[in-house]
Amino acid sequence: MENATVKKRILSGIQPSGRLHLGNYLGPLRHWPEMIEEFDCYFFMADLHTITVRQNPADLRRQTLTLLAQYIACGLDPEKCVLFIQSHVPAHSQLSWVLNCYTMFGELSRMTQFKDKSAKNADNINAGLFTYPVLMASDILIYQADMVPVGEDQRQHVEICRDIANRFNGIYGDVFKVPEPYIAKVGARIKSLSAPASKMSKSQPDGCVFLLEKPEDIMRKFKRSVTDSDTERCVRYDPEEKPGVSNLIQIYASATGKTFDEIEAEFDGKGYGVFKPAVGEAVVETLRPIREETERLLADKAYLEGVYRAGAEKAAYVANRTLSKVYKKVGFLAR
Ligand code: TYM
Repeated sequence: MENATVKKRILSGIQPSGRLHLGNYLGPLRHWPEMIEEFDCYFFMADLHTITVRQNPADLRRQTLTLLAQYIACGLDPEKCVLFIQSHVPAHSQLSWVLNCYTMFGELSRMTQFKDKSAKNADNINAGLFTYPVLMASDILIYQADMVPVGEDQRQHVEICRDIANRFNGIYGDVFKVPEPYIAKVGARIKSLSAPASKMSKSQPDGCVFLLEKPEDIMRKFKRSVTDSDTERCVRYDPEEKPGVSNLIQIYASATGKTFDEIEAEFDGKGYGVFKPAVGEAVVETLRPIREETERLLADKAYLEGVYRAGAEKAAYVANRTLSKVYKKVGFLAR
């Protein structure tokens, strides 16, 4: 406990809205296991966020448990960090209501993810989709997190979280720690393999590699990946002129730890026909132990239940302290 007060605190979450993909892994998740050695870390399954888009209830339950197993399989040792399910800690939703009253309609209207998601779900532009960033701000602020490791697409949400925290602190004094986004240099915006202009996402399954996918399917996706139609056909990092190849270089760099220069030298004069399967193989080898460990963990439901129950208890302890402080500040009578 003493250490926990000195160590910086890290918090992040992923929606259990489908299958975890290579963008989720190479962007943020890959960096989390090294953080648990040094920081006081909280990682969760963002199931409350997931229902902003309609879900099948049985699938959501299964996906939430699978995501927990994947967190552990990726190296998040539950003895060294807090792993929990967002809906198990009611204080997130409670703080979210309060912060809704300190967030402006105009600022939420400017969120690019809201604009994108409402375009994609035109028949279900619900209020939750609109106030989603306020819940995300609550997730972060309720733990007094110092740093939030996410991919590039979440930067705007961490920024609005900072704005909300500063606004609240400006009225009531230093209630919330104002968090910093932590966005890795390599891998923060993995692109689709079939359409490298857009980010890799499960809504475009052709260009998306899932963590639990079979090696032969992964290889097929890499072999078919869209490269660039320039005449040069050499492996060179140039995101403007060669977005497809540059995306593959990023993926290869993240999977192998090699620098862009080393990769260019390795494939000098070899062309895309050699490069694409090499990237596929590096990804298959990176994902193989994660897939095997996830399958093993999923067979042990009692263990997973123990992890999320203990996690919720630890998380709720910290979250409730912030919530009490907030309730007092805004003037709610203590029970
Ligand atoms: P979500 O579930 O969409 O994505 C999980 C994480 O994966 C990152 N990511 C990517 N990184 C690189 N390349 C890609 N193609 C790619 N696609 C996704 C995301 O940036 C994210 O870090 N709102 C969040 C979940 C959340 C959260 C939070 C995160 C809820 N509350 C509090 C941090 C703190 C989301 O929908 O992420």
